[in-house]
Amino acid sequence: MSRDDIGTDPGFQFGSGGPSGPPTGTGESPVAAIVWHDGALWLLDQRELPRTSVMRRYSDSADVAQAIRDMVVRGAPAIGVAAAYGAVLAARRCYEESAAAWRAAVEADLDHLAASRPTAVNLGWALDRMRRAIGAIVGDDDPEPSLLATARAIHAEDIAANRRMGELGAALIESRCEVLTHCNAGALATAGYGTALGVIRAAHSAGRIAHVFAGETRPWLQGARLTAYELVEAGIPVSLIADGAATWTMRQGRVRWVIVGADRVAANGDVANKIGTYSLAVSARHHGVRFMVVAPTSTIDRECASGAEIPIENRDSEELLSHQGTRVAPDGARAWNPVFDVTPAELIDALVTERGVVEAPTRERIALLFDRCRQR
Ligand code: MRU
Repeated sequence: MSRDDIGTDPGFQFGSGGPSGPPTGTGESPVAAIVWHDGALWLLDQRELPRTSVMRRYSDSADVAQAIRDMVVRGAPAIGVAAAYGAVLAARRCYEESAAAWRAAVEADLDHLAASRPTAVNLGWALDRMRRAIGAIVGDDDPEPSLLATARAIHAEDIAANRRMGELGAALIESRCEVLTHCNAGALATAGYGTALGVIRAAHSAGRIAHVFAGETRPWLQGARLTAYELVEAGIPVSLIADGAATWTMRQGRVRWVIVGADRVAANGDVANKIGTYSLAVSARHHGVRFMVVAPTSTIDRECASGAEIPIENRDSEELLSHQGTRVAPDGARAWNPVFDVTPAELIDALVTERGVVEAPTRERIALLFDRCRQR
């Protein structure tokens, strides 16, 4: 098996390093979910956090696709970065098989990566960019160096975008307050630093965030396991709440902003994000709480006219019927498990991107954001 971890080798314990282990995160974003090291892709297995931190090694693109499907790596930008490195591995294998025919052969692997999860548009976005990089390679040269450079650029640009969005989003928070977030839109869900958690990190450093409420985010518990973990690591005060407690928390007057990430933003500003985001937006509007979506422009799908066109992933009903391998629902019960929902643009006060903030997003305002950037 080309994935050198499962079953026998538990991988490297995260943070323990070791002379041949992959480097881990640094600075303000100590968690590194994705590392290219020693000719292979290393992914922090997010299914096991926070109890165990293991980096798993991948040297085959089909295994990377499976890791995305199984949520070893998750979060829209992180999936895109992992897929970009997956494309490097695919090209390496196809080139080794045939230096003349690798370009045609690699397409099936790219399609396989693209199909691993449907909702996060960053996956298709990153693979399109890798396709353009493949198109730019001339002759029978080894494609790996230039494709690796493109994957590394996608990786680095996402961190830079998150830093910029952190500044822009933090500037919208006028005075010290409490905020609420959902799922995990942090360093783990991105190339580093985070989108929603990037804003929270920056605003907390500026003294504008006193406390964060994190929804636990059933059934995968990204809020409980991952967001709480990142915030504790960063020294940012966090209280976990049951997902059903969010509206009541707003009712107490304790929340000024809801700050979330996105998996896909339609051209009209509708936002697909983790299931439960839509109900947070409805509750926020009812209680006069502001609603901020933080997403790089790689998450905006201009081909997608509205949220109605966004494919929503339905996952295995067992994820709801059981918990950690133990059945919690009675035999005979069924489950419906959509893992994303769509928040209509009219419920969003600010869409923060690395190219600027779109207040009360509409189709026209989003188009203007892209037009302004083209003119620069
Ligand atoms: O199912 P997941 O864990 O991949 O869902 C992730 C989310 O919904 C995040 O909020 C979204 O990808 C934004 S990540 C910066």
